[in-house]
Amino acid sequence: MPEIFVARSEQLGEGARQFIEHAGQQIGVMRVQGRLVAYLNVCPHQGGPVCEGMMIHRVEEVIDEDRCYQGMRFDPQTLHIVCPWHGWEFDAATGASAGDGQWSLRRFEVLERAGEIYVQV
Ligand code: FES
Repeated sequence: MPEIFVARSEQLGEGARQFIEHAGQQIGVMRVQGRLVAYLNVCPHQGGPVCEGMMIHRVEEVIDEDRCYQGMRFDPQTLHIVCPWHGWEFDAATGASAGDGQWSLRRFEVLERAGEIYVQV
């Protein structure tokens, strides 16, 4: 499977993003919680540049043992990418939609070897 050079490892630290072009489309490569991931920079909703969106931790509601609402908090274990067009959220580690399991980002394999990062296309 063909590989495209992305960057040297030190250029893509935690939270950093790099974009490459392939077959007329853009692929966003990022390091999320220590792991490299790559997604087609096209949102499954209406085609927005999802990989350019902000990253925030998942927001969860807090319900106590009496089933009473206690507010909301960030989940530090799960990071979301928020599409800049209409706000759909995706798990940054897997590409799965946070709102509807039938949607996900198109994912590519990422290889890191000898201090360099490649995406398989
Ligand atoms: S195009 Fe991404 S949320 Fe609409």
